[in-house]
Amino acid sequence: MTALYHSFTGLDLRAEIDRLRAEKNAVILAHYYQKPELQDIADFVGDSLDLSRKAQATQADVIAFCGVRFMAETAKILSPDKIVVLPDMDAGCSLEDSCPPEQFAAFRAAHPDHIALTYINCSAEVKGLSDVIVTSSSAETILAKLPRDQKIIFGPDRNLGGYLVRKTGRDMLLWPGVCIVHEAFSETELLKLKARHPGAPVAAHPECPAVILDHADYVGSTRGILEFANAMAGDTLIVATEPHIIHQMAKAMPGKRFIGAPGADGNCNCNICPYMALNTMEKLYVALRDLEPRIEIEEGLRLRAKKSLDAMLDMAGGTVGRGDLGPARVTGD
Ligand code: 13P
Ligand code: SF4
Repeated sequence: MTALYHSFTGLDLRAEIDRLRAEKNAVILAHYYQKPELQDIADFVGDSLDLSRKAQATQADVIAFCGVRFMAETAKILSPDKIVVLPDMDAGCSLEDSCPPEQFAAFRAAHPDHIALTYINCSAEVKGLSDVIVTSSSAETILAKLPRDQKIIFGPDRNLGGYLVRKTGRDMLLWPGVCIVHEAFSETELLKLKARHPGAPVAAHPECPAVILDHADYVGSTRGILEFANAMAGDTLIVATEPHIIHQMAKAMPGKRFIGAPGADGNCNCNICPYMALNTMEKLYVALRDLEPRIEIEEGLRLRAKKSLDAMLDMAGGTVGRGDLGPARVTGD
């Protein structure tokens, strides 16, 4: 591993990233789906809601966002005076791609009596067309604060939307987007895995389809899944979300065993997010060195998108899961 980092122009990338972080007064934020080396060098590792809060609160001049584009855009919308860099600008998201702003605007126009409750996995344009943004950890809390008779469009994730409809009994109009990563889990393979590990609970992200969620003992955000793993009594957990989260679990709970739920081919490689995987230590180093590629958002659009994000941050309140694993590191902000 270490040798690999030395191979990029002969530099010690870890040391160089540390040097640049201090020199540029930068904070490195990373999502749980990032490669282990990026999670380990980050100042803070979190789920989408926690990363938004960190981006809003940081005193750093530069935010280096190891995640996907909609996450870095959220950081820029909330912290416009900061320089926000994303190591690879092609780090998109299938949910964002499934919801082109012009089609979403037409859908909204066709349902003028509905408000748009929108998953954070979308473009800044779609945020600007929405009333309230939610993350997987805040969606239930926020939905409970909306009047029962309020008509709601929920997009772009039909799996998270469907889960909320089943869980809360609220009727919502669902946009038909999916996460290609969570769609790839196989019910048949999951059942075979459960049979091999009788008694091991299944923790699943709500972006999974209902056939997977039906077998889950716990459904929640990435942070929620980590907290479930921490609190569970047994020593083995089947994890139905992007497998890089297992890095944090293994670090925090070395005595427990975490098994990634399989895709249709019986192994879980097809569940690695191809967008998250674009970020590397080399690209993070270049992003800190050059302060590029940089997220820029036109001010009118930023202000429109900020309204729905502010609504989320207000309404999510102190949404927290059980237990707090805390930041991976606490430097930088
Ligand atoms: P979390 O908010 O649970 O971290 O989810 C983000 C995401 O993109 C999951 O695919
Ligand atoms: Fe998007 Fe799915 Fe990747 Fe999350 S795991 S960033 S929802 S494609």
